[in-house]
Amino acid sequence: MTSKLINQKPLLVKSHKLIKKIRIIDKNRYYSNFGPYYYVLKKKIENVLKLKKFSITFTSSGYSSLHACCKLIANKNKKKIVLVPTYSFAANPQSIISSGLEPFFVDINKDSYEMDYEDASKILKKYRKKIAAIMIVSPFGYPINIKKCLNIFSKYKVPIIYDAVDTLLNHKSLHESNNVYYTHSFHPTKIIPSNESGMIIASKKREKFLKSMINFGMIGETRSINLYGFNGKFTEYDAAILDSNFEEIKKIKKKLIKINHYIITNVKNDSLIFQKNFGVNWFSLRLVLRHKFKNFNSIFSKLKKEGIVISHPWHNKFMHQYSIFKKYKKSNLINSTALQNKIFSINMRIDIKKKDLDFLVKNLNEI
Ligand SMILES: Cc1ncc(COP(=O)(O)O)c(C=O)c1O
Repeated sequence: MTSKLINQKPLLVKSHKLIKKIRIIDKNRYYSNFGPYYYVLKKKIENVLKLKKFSITFTSSGYSSLHACCKLIANKNKKKIVLVPTYSFAANPQSIISSGLEPFFVDINKDSYEMDYEDASKILKKYRKKIAAIMIVSPFGYPINIKKCLNIFSKYKVPIIYDAVDTLLNHKSLHESNNVYYTHSFHPTKIIPSNESGMIIASKKREKFLKSMINFGMIGETRSINLYGFNGKFTEYDAAILDSNFEEIKKIKKKLIKINHYIITNVKNDSLIFQKNFGVNWFSLRLVLRHKFKNFNSIFSKLKKEGIVISHPWHNKFMHQYSIFKKYKKSNLINSTALQNKIFSINMRIDIKKKDLDFLVKNLNEI
């Protein structure tokens, strides 16, 4: 077998599909600032997601979506702490800190890698009066059970930011509870990719403020400034690229399920542990695994010799370990400490070839 799984590059729709949409922009002569294409796409995706009490605000990235939600929560708020799993992406603590809030690093569940809700509950009980929000983070498309979270957390009446990042294909239905903000990223590496852009799904009541937040705090025709905002706007070109890719959603889902099923049926190495329910009720282009006995470095060296590159899924350390975040509070982080040198990931692309999948499976079975 000579196949090498190197340089798996993202894949967006080809330019001939995109050009038809770009021509709409040429005609409209509206390029940003919530133009006509923004609203066409908003309606389209709101209908697909069957939103009733919630609506969409498109943004310039996953990060700006998180930042807008954090800034809205921080506005006139004496409470400062935001619970966030230490196993998360730089955007999570950074969006909290840049909004004037403070992350509190919480442990993770050892099977799904989402936040450990028992750990979070203990912190909530202790710091109740200081907690401004809870930021839960979907690891690599894993769909978090938001109803379960609400059951656990609703008594504290704290807003929940659900960083759903790459979960768009895996949402069953969106629970439209007043205090929940869903954020998404359409970075080219995501399953539904676009240009750098993102989306917030939240209560219709908040849409005006979220739009204002990503438009320098301006509200309405008068352009009066009511909030400390920033520029996180979604351009009409972002809308064209996202629309073109969104039209491929059924095709993408079919291919993704096929790839994920192939992996879970053919990887028979009992020492490898998949992220909970991967390929069963949720699907991802990130294959996230851990070995019962071997650590990241030994698997990295072995697979590198074969041309397979594994990586730490988000960063080489968990957030609480970085010196810039050391001054923030953290819990005991028992699971995180046990898992931090174990979890590894392999990036796949939607057009991965059967021979590359076979090569990957063969090597995983031999670890
Ligand atoms: C968990 C998480 N949140 C937020 C982001 C940021 O998204 P973006 O790159 O669109 O800003 C990412 C990016 O991969 C992420 O993994």
